[in-house]
Amino acid sequence: MSTAKPSIRLLATGGTIAGAQNAAGGYAAAVMSGDELLAAVPQLAHLAQISAEQVARIGSQDMDETVWLKLATRAQAALDDPAVAGVVITHGTDTMEETAYFLNLVLKTDKPVVLVGAMRPATAISPDGPMNLYNAVAVAADPATKNRGVLVVANDEIHFAREVAKTNTTQLGTFKSPNRGLAGLVNRGRIHFFGPTVRRHTAASEFAPLTATALPRVEIIHAYAGLRRDLIDVAVQQGVSGIVIAGVGAGNLSSVALQACAEAARAGVAVVRSSLTGGGVVERNIEIKDDELGLIVAEELNPQKARVLLMLGLTRSNDAAQLQRWFQTY
Ligand code: SIN
Repeated sequence: MSTAKPSIRLLATGGTIAGAQNAAGGYAAAVMSGDELLAAVPQLAHLAQISAEQVARIGSQDMDETVWLKLATRAQAALDDPAVAGVVITHGTDTMEETAYFLNLVLKTDKPVVLVGAMRPATAISPDGPMNLYNAVAVAADPATKNRGVLVVANDEIHFAREVAKTNTTQLGTFKSPNRGLAGLVNRGRIHFFGPTVRRHTAASEFAPLTATALPRVEIIHAYAGLRRDLIDVAVQQGVSGIVIAGVGAGNLSSVALQACAEAARAGVAVVRSSLTGGGVVERNIEIKDDELGLIVAEELNPQKARVLLMLGLTRSNDAAQLQRWFQTY
């Protein structure tokens, strides 16, 4: 029987998992390389043979479409290598859910892809990164992880890319999957999966493999009591292809802003209503007449993930009915 360990490719992008804190509490992201992160956890050798590639060296607030396209290309190349069993991506936690969902839609693979980060810098008292990395590699190296889509591992939990959201500024248990729950648990490398995700992803995604070399501009506008129409009008004047409204409650917004959205939709801008509440579904045609106004609803996707799907959808079509079907599928 072969004792060879599975081969895992680590793609490093920076974040607090690679960050350093000084004695005064100051902090810098992305100080350590992928190779240094691996060297800090020698126990990883029991799980896999791992090779690291530095794709970026940034705090994830600087993650953008250009880095996403590069990261997707490098991840796809690794996944297409028959010798590679799975990919682990180290990433800042701030925008990890957006990157995870983007990759969930554009990677053509049934192999494991796991994003991992940390809330405490690598040099902090009691950093969480080493155990998170150990667990992420264990999940990526496990054949049972195949065909579950892109996953996020942190704080002994496994989350689906579509469901996960960062919910706390500093606490280790920041990641939650509020609507459909966890993909599973992982305790020092011992994995317990709870069930599959029901929405389409990776190998079954129409957006995979990624062919676009740029993504259309989509802006998010945050609703609040008294939202005026000005920012929506400015976005349209700036030539955006799409607008996501981070709506109050069930994707709601003031009458004047709604009027601006309807005008934007008539002018050919795709307008998606999502919710800033952090949970629940935005449904069509309940209080707002979406059919009449030409609007799209995000269902359970939070505003930042709705933006990701809208950008990818707009690379194929700007028909509101087609875009709505994608929001019901992914
Ligand atoms: C970042 O997202 O790069 C900083 C925060 C973190 O990684 O926890």
